Amino acid sequence: MSDPTLLILGATGDLTLRLLLPGIGSLLSREPGRRLRVIGVGRRDRPRSEFAGLVADALASGGAGAEAIDRIRDQADHHRIDMSDPGELARLLDRYADAERLVLYFALPPEVTRRVCAGLRHVGLGERTHLALEKPFGSDLRSSRDMEELVLGLAPPERIHRIDHFLGMSSVQRLAGCDAASDRPEEIEICFEESLALEGRAGYYDGAGALVDMIQSHLLLVLAELLRPAAAPGSGSAVHEERVRILRALRPWGGDPASASRRGRYTAGSIGGRRIPAYTDETGVDAARGTETLAQITVEVDLPAWAGVPITLRSGKALGAPAQHVALRMPDAEPVLLPLVDGAAEGTHVGAYGAVVGAVLDGRDALGVGSDAVEECWRIIDEVRATWAAGGVEMDEYSAGSGVPETWRPRARGGTRTPTPEGTGT
Ligand SMILES: NC(=O)c1ccc[n+]([C@@H]2O[C@H](COP(=O)([O-])OP(=O)(O)OC[C@H]3O[C@@H](n4cnc5c(N)ncnc54)[C@H](OP(=O)(O)O)[C@@H]3O)[C@@H](O)[C@H]2O)c1
Repeated sequence: MSDPTLLILGATGDLTLRLLLPGIGSLLSREPGRRLRVIGVGRRDRPRSEFAGLVADALASGGAGAEAIDRIRDQADHHRIDMSDPGELARLLDRYADAERLVLYFALPPEVTRRVCAGLRHVGLGERTHLALEKPFGSDLRSSRDMEELVLGLAPPERIHRIDHFLGMSSVQRLAGCDAASDRPEEIEICFEESLALEGRAGYYDGAGALVDMIQSHLLLVLAELLRPAAAPGSGSAVHEERVRILRALRPWGGDPASASRRGRYTAGSIGGRRIPAYTDETGVDAARGTETLAQITVEVDLPAWAGVPITLRSGKALGAPAQHVALRMPDAEPVLLPLVDGAAEGTHVGAYGAVVGAVLDGRDALGVGSDAVEECWRIIDEVRATWAAGGVEMDEYSAGSGVPETWRPRARGGTRTPTPEGTGT
């Protein structure tokens, strides 16, 4: 039987080259003997040697040693196929059917992933074939359910892995078990703000916005990790159940999404001496969409342990002193700050990818996102989006390089900013 094989669909895209392969590099730096074959799939021809060189460079940037890189480079290959053609997909899968575990990794735009999965219905997947799906999982509750039905028609749940690399961040992995703390915070803030502006990503971002890009998946999962009890190692299903129990108990603060949420968009300004145009003047942005670049929601948790504790989630772009932390405001004491980024931002994200991909390759389930959790996240976000679409919340403005509007901090006591030098651009 051949080495476990990662078949990356979209093998030369931003995610693959900037995070996924470097992430595998970081995994190999910790486990240099790990056996793995990396095969790229794309819609353009790419000579094997050229792709192998890209893989080697990306693995090296993540910290892999020379021996591991040589081993993977020697086996790396690239195929150009029409991914919407079930016949071509079937031939490709047959070629690697001898792999100990074959992971089909969808590093593709979400709509392309959906089309490829639809094509896979006409292809029988072998018992050792797993699917790794990137966030976002659908674009609302309904489409996420449709996507779930589609993928469950392809493979059983234990062979479907939904990736949100925030669950692989070591800072996030340290959060579980906080419920056991004897001092209950009176307020919690989870923020992941960036100094980066749009940086040419209008094609994706203008259709998503800060609420969906960061809060729908990443920050709601961070919240679930923070509030869930620590689990025994290896108890993947217990972890999923706890996350869902918490997410299911979330409501907009006061039951009113209009007063519990805020949205904003940056106007022209400067960050670190660099002039930033207004979001609506950025290339590719359609101002009529009304996309927000800063979003905040405050939720309550309908569970006895957390009743009455407001939890505010916030993320946004082009901020002057971005904070990336969990802040626990304690009664009569200084807030406890738990940073979400360890050291350099890019290194944090790369390391997180290494962790989640390693878990998929090893069949460890707890670092994946459960389908029920996906639904709960969309339930919360859809409610807020519907309120925004009905005009229930004004679009605030902040100039690029400035801070979160002061009026957004209803109960703030100050002193909880942990500025980070750079944004992250995930
Ligand atoms: N980039 C990130 O920072 C990031 C972070 C977290 C999650 N994600 C998720 O990861 C996935 C990929 O993101 P990305 O930023 O890497 O996207 P991307 O760079 O826009 O595209 C990824 C790959 O998809 C290929 N592709 C695009 N349209 C195609 C089509 N019609 N048929 C076949 N291949 C097609 C591209 O091929 P060409 O090279 O030929 O154009 C490219 O290799 C998305 O689901 C995204 O939400 C991305």
